[in-house]
Amino acid sequence: MNRTYAILGGTGALGFGLALRLARSGGRVVIGSRSQEKAEEAAVRARAILAEGGAATIDIQAAENGAAAAQADLVFVTVPYAQQKTLLSEVSGRLQGKIVIDATVPLAPPRVGVVQLPEGGSAAVAAQAMLGGGVRLVSAFQNVAADKLQSLEPLDCDVLVTGDDRAACLEVVALIERLGLTGYYAGPLANSAATEALTSLLIQINRQFRCQAGVRITGVT
Ligand SMILES: NC(=O)c1ccc[n+]([C@@H]2O[C@H](COP(=O)([O-])OP(=O)(O)OC[C@H]3O[C@@H](n4cnc5c(N)ncnc54)[C@H](OP(=O)(O)O)[C@@H]3O)[C@@H](O)[C@H]2O)c1
Repeated sequence: MNRTYAILGGTGALGFGLALRLARSGGRVVIGSRSQEKAEEAAVRARAILAEGGAATIDIQAAENGAAAAQADLVFVTVPYAQQKTLLSEVSGRLQGKIVIDATVPLAPPRVGVVQLPEGGSAAVAAQAMLGGGVRLVSAFQNVAADKLQSLEPLDCDVLVTGDDRAACLEVVALIERLGLTGYYAGPLANSAATEALTSLLIQINRQFRCQAGVRITGVT
């Protein structure tokens, strides 16, 4: 049975890339937005991109964030850090019992090239505390460039996955493989501080080399 994936903030750079890859892998995708109209525009655009790429079956729907979360098996959170808490408080009831994959990086503009982790340790730890133990929170995708996800090309980078529910993390690792990347379970949610912090280091490297750097885990056999 194909699963339904909701992407809250799926109209944005990262969420749209995830929507494309999830739909291409055969999943039912619901692009979430604050605006039904904006979600529908993104869904139309995503269907066109995948149809042009030759995808046979494409199931991409559109909804406001709350309705998107309500109909999903797995929910992605892809909004800017400044909006993460507001969004989660609005949809919390729709997330209970589900795997929620949070990609939030706690960047504090304008100093985005400097690590500035929030009180409590990390954005993902704060999200879990807010949503409660009924939500299987998994932190992932902080170190993957949105443009690269949207390109639909094979990606030369890995995804670090953390969370206190190991089974949920391993489910997400398996899903990541279906998206054309390699995922690694990297320990409890407290370790999300490392992946969230790493983004500022990648931003520094991107500026130096005018690139979109990612991370690769080596030595794993
Ligand atoms: N961009 C990347 O390469 C990248 C890579 C890894 C992780 N991340 C992380 O992923 C998250 C999303 O990044 P992004 O670059 O995709 O962000 P983005 O394009 O700036 O925004 C994503 C979506 O968030 C929603 N949004 C914006 N302002 C909002 C508000 N005030 N309240 C509620 N929703 C709001 C918008 O959706 P609607 O207007 O449709 O509601 C927007 O399309 C961030 O936490 C970022 O740190 C980004």
